[in-house]
Order: sequence, then structure tokens, then C-alpha cells
Amino acid sequence: MLSSSMSAASSSAASASAAASSASASSSASSSSSPAMKPVLEKEFHIYRWSPEKEPPEKPYMQTYKVDVNSCGPMMLDVLLKIKDEQDPSLVLRRSCREGICGSCAMNIDGKNGLACLTKVEKDMAPTRVAPLPHMFVVKDLVVDMSNFYAQYKSIEPWLKTKNDDNRHVDAETGEAKEYLQSKDDRLKLDGMYECILCACCSTSCPSYWWNSDKYLGPAVLLQAYKWISDSRDQFTDERLKAVDDAFKLYRCHTIMNCAKVCPKGLNPGLGIQKLKSQLH
Ligand code: SF4
Ligand code: SF4
Ligand code: FES
Repeated sequence: MLSSSMSAASSSAASASAAASSASASSSASSSSSPAMKPVLEKEFHIYRWSPEKEPPEKPYMQTYKVDVNSCGPMMLDVLLKIKDEQDPSLVLRRSCREGICGSCAMNIDGKNGLACLTKVEKDMAPTRVAPLPHMFVVKDLVVDMSNFYAQYKSIEPWLKTKNDDNRHVDAETGEAKEYLQSKDDRLKLDGMYECILCACCSTSCPSYWWNSDKYLGPAVLLQAYKWISDSRDQFTDERLKAVDDAFKLYRCHTIMNCAKVCPKGLNPGLGIQKLKSQLH
């Protein structure tokens, strides 16, 4: 867009001097109103690379890229997409919403799990290190295998389960059972849990989950289990409590609280787990 409007201005200058002075007046007006160019600030990014397709097979390594962080958006995802667009299209990462909703850009940035789209890049000369979520199998580069995490989520049956229509609104005229009713106070009990976007930042920062991810459900899934246990509309509370009352599924949590430090939505899964335990005993 910019280059085509500039060439239009110069061609009108060649054809008529009046048009030229008009073009130059408008050009100086627009340059005086446009923001000053920021100085180049080149920062190094050390990014984890590994591809299962390499022949001969190679070990994971950190690749260094240099990016002018004054020439892109402020977040880590902006930098990664700039690298992918301008330097190395082979770099693989997940992202979708770019605003902290889908949870797909979770990764480890300078040693801390977080969402790339919500993590601001420090505008200094210190290199930034970007790696996949820790203790997960890597599919390629920054993409990890979420199969076990999703299977664990499925195991807690994350949907509304009812035995009868007692808590449903019944249409007075038709007798038809309609929506499930919930008081405002009961709805408020779900705050701090319904906001979870299942990014797995918490689970993959939990030492207990690192060592027992095959058996321990981890903070994200336990928080979701507790959400359904706390939901006044659900009628399987006792069954749900019984299902997680297990030495490995629940009691591997040792209240280390790494989970609460990294949650990009400001949630506290460790506290949810404590409440869940206290409801059991
Ligand atoms: S509080 Fe529990 S779930 Fe959270 S990091 Fe610690 S052990 Fe893991
Ligand atoms: S509790 Fe927070 S960190 Fe954990 S999965 Fe949900 S949003 Fe992500
Ligand atoms: S791209 Fe969706 S949370 Fe970052």
C-alpha cells in the first residue's frame, strides 16, 4: 500500500507542477503526523528446534535468530511469527486466537511457562530463550504432544451430568423441560475455574506432574474436575469425588504451588485442589 501511493504521488509530480506541489504538501503533512521511526533494537532469540523428519536423525538444538524488536508487535508471538515470515518458514509453533483465549501458544519463555501471545518481550539486549512446554513429548520444534493431557481431561467427564429434571426450568404451558437453573450465588462458585483455557501451562510446571504424568491428573484437569463437583446443576457430585479419590490421580499434589505462579489467566489450581481434598476428608 505504502509504495503504491508513493509512486502515484511522483507520477502526478511529473505530469504537472501544481499537482507536484500539492502532492509534496500532502506528503509533508502526512510525514509530520506519522510517528517517528523507532531505532533498530536487535535482540537475540534462542529457540528450541527439533524435527523427527531429519535424515540422518539429529538431536534437539537451540537456534539463534536476531530480530529488531522495534519493528514488530510487543509480544513473544509477534517475534516468532516475524521470524517465521521473514527468516525461517520451517519454524513450527501452534497459535490461533493471538489474544489469550485458545491456549494453543503455550510454551516456556525464559524458563517460565506462559502464552506467547500474552508474554511481552523485554526490550533489552539480553537474549530470550524459547522452548516447548517442559516434560512433554515434542512433536516438532515448539509443538508438544497434548494427547495424554486431553485423555486425562476426558477421563473426568467434563460435561453436565444429571439424573432427573429436578433443577430444570419447566415451561408452564407446554410442560417441556428447558434450561438448567442456577442461583447467582451458585454461579459465583464457578469463578476462578470456568475461565481456564486448558493451556497446560500449570500442569507442565508441576514437578509432581513431570514425574507421574501417566497417573497424576495434574492441576489443570483437577481444577476442571473440581469445577464440575462445585456446579450446583450437576447431579453426579459424589461419583465425581469418588472418581478422583486416588493416591495417584489426586494425592500426588504436594502443594508446591508452581501451578498458581504460571497461570496466564491468574487462576489458582493448587487452591482448587486443596478445596477438592478438603471435600473428600
Ligand atoms: S500445588 Fe499441586 S498441582 Fe500445583 S504445582 Fe504444586 S504439586 Fe503441582
Ligand atoms: S489453570 Fe491456568 S495454566 Fe492451567 S490450564 Fe487453566 S488456564 Fe492454563
Ligand atoms: S494464540 Fe491463542 S492463547 Fe495464544
